[in-house]
Amino acid sequence: MAVASPPSTRPAVELRGITKRFPGVVANRDVNLLVEAGTIHAIVGENGAGKSTLMKILYGMQRPDEGTIAIDGTVLSLRRPTHAIRAGIGMVHQHFMLADNLTVLENIVLGSEPDTPVVLSRRKARRRIVELGRQYGLGVDPDALVETLGVGDRQRVEILKVLYRGARVLILDEPTAVLVPQEVEDLFASLRELRNEGLTVLFISHKLDEVLSVADAITVIRSGTTVATVEPASVTARDLANLMVGHELPTPETRESTVTDTVELSLRRVTVAGAGARNALDGIDLDIRRGEIVGVAGVEGNGQTELINAVMGLAPLASGSIHLGEVDISRWPTRRRREEGIACVPEDRHRDGLLLDAPLWENAALGQQTRKPFVAGAFIDRAGARRRAEEIVETYGVRTPGVDVRAGALSGGNQQKLIMGRELTSGPRVLVAAHPTRGVDVGAQAAIWEELRKARAKGLAVLLISADLDELIGLSDTLVVLYGGRMVARLDPSGTNVDALGCYMTGTDPAGRGELDIDAVAAEVQAAHPLEVVAPSTTVEGATPIGTDRTGGGGAAPGGSGPDLTKGGPS
Ligand SMILES: Nc1ncnc2c1ncn2[C@@H]1O[C@H](COP(=O)(O)OP(=O)(O)OP(=O)(O)O)[C@@H](O)[C@H]1O
Ligand SMILES: [Mg+2]
Repeated sequence: MAVASPPSTRPAVELRGITKRFPGVVANRDVNLLVEAGTIHAIVGENGAGKSTLMKILYGMQRPDEGTIAIDGTVLSLRRPTHAIRAGIGMVHQHFMLADNLTVLENIVLGSEPDTPVVLSRRKARRRIVELGRQYGLGVDPDALVETLGVGDRQRVEILKVLYRGARVLILDEPTAVLVPQEVEDLFASLRELRNEGLTVLFISHKLDEVLSVADAITVIRSGTTVATVEPASVTARDLANLMVGHELPTPETRESTVTDTVELSLRRVTVAGAGARNALDGIDLDIRRGEIVGVAGVEGNGQTELINAVMGLAPLASGSIHLGEVDISRWPTRRRREEGIACVPEDRHRDGLLLDAPLWENAALGQQTRKPFVAGAFIDRAGARRRAEEIVETYGVRTPGVDVRAGALSGGNQQKLIMGRELTSGPRVLVAAHPTRGVDVGAQAAIWEELRKARAKGLAVLLISADLDELIGLSDTLVVLYGGRMVARLDPSGTNVDALGCYMTGTDPAGRGELDIDAVAAEVQAAHPLEVVAPSTTVEGATPIGTDRTGGGGAAPGGSGPDLTKGGPS
């Protein structure tokens, strides 16, 4: 494994001896980092290793306790992001920071040109935005409201905002965690354009294959300090994982079926109204049995959010019904659903999953305040909540100095582990898990998969929504694909692959015959599904690849080779 040779060109960024302490934690310890101008430089490392902190220091959001920062060879004191922006540094955060109720243009211009007359600057701004978009493949409608945009577009807006302010060094904190493969490719194409124009890109990722495909240099951070900077050509993902965590890459394999005959959650013709004329979710039929993981694939914005909201009681059904066991819960409020055993790992951990200013022990009780061990009579049982929090921290390896720490002080991946732990330890019947390992490092990912498998073996019914197709294929017993709010495929994961899934997700025929006829395939998938709830004698058709005759090529699921859904169940 060759260490990157000393740079022949000038460094754009040079960090020397950076140390940053938080109460009970040394987030960065004597970090030295050299980033050459005109390169894509990746930073990898375990959850809590100190990656985001280091980037925040470079962006002037955190002050280092020790060390120096040089930009283009000049040592600067960056005490605020405005200082960093002036020095040509821009950052796109792990969590997007756009104002939802403003347009793309307003978001981009916001706070950057205070003294130009608004009308004048608007026209100029629009031209500049369109130009930047064209130049770097970051096209977005400047007049679109941000709340109407999907993740991929929001990210482009964030990047445009940074470029608009004249950044020459771009920091992206886990930009690909929220993207599906096609979007990742688009992003990487833009990054390469930026690099070719001489800009410097620093980006953090837990997806080592991606890092290897796009980076010119990779720096590994372990326990707050840089352990190596390597050239991608000279290492494998396995080497990187070893450098990061000291053990090997996990794979989300789970072939031993634990699926039973008992339907735990069932959706019938579930329809949720959309903003426009089309339904956001349209006539969805879905059964999840005890011990079964049903994976949902789809490009963001194709009904996943509405599906989660429908099951959790956060979106009213326009029509259709939802049963928990044999009970119709269609009209139950969210709280009752949670009390009766439906747990949820939300899509957006900051907005829906945590109280960032509350300590971990309070967060461990969130959503379960009405249940043991959190209540003792009419009171919140603090000791019970603390014990539970400690148990979660231990089992899920949440890296923290203690359970009194604010949830907001945890690193992104550790917040995710806390939520996952809280939801699983509540002993649910059904778990709705959206991106359960998003932002989680390779080691912790394996631990979360293992906990999911254990819970599944004990009879948990899981609705898994993920942008990570390998995770979906590896963990799911049954896979469905949402496209435009419709279910366009029900597949056997063992008979499918990332390419075929990608086709369904974009509404194209995996057999290479152009666009799918969505109405036809949705009807076909629906017709193939049993409509009777909880009928043990009903043999469930497992994988129902749509139009078997059409899906022969491209690695799509072969017909009739569904998983044995009755294995392990009462016969
Ligand atoms: N504002 C803060 N207050 C207290 N501790 C903090 C704060 N920010 C970060 N930390 C701690 O510093 C350490 C490094 O956190 P950081 O967010 O830099 O990790 P990371 O490498 O980005 O991890 P992840 O991959 O999970 O995002 C963690 O232990 C975290 O709990
Ligand atoms: Mg981070």
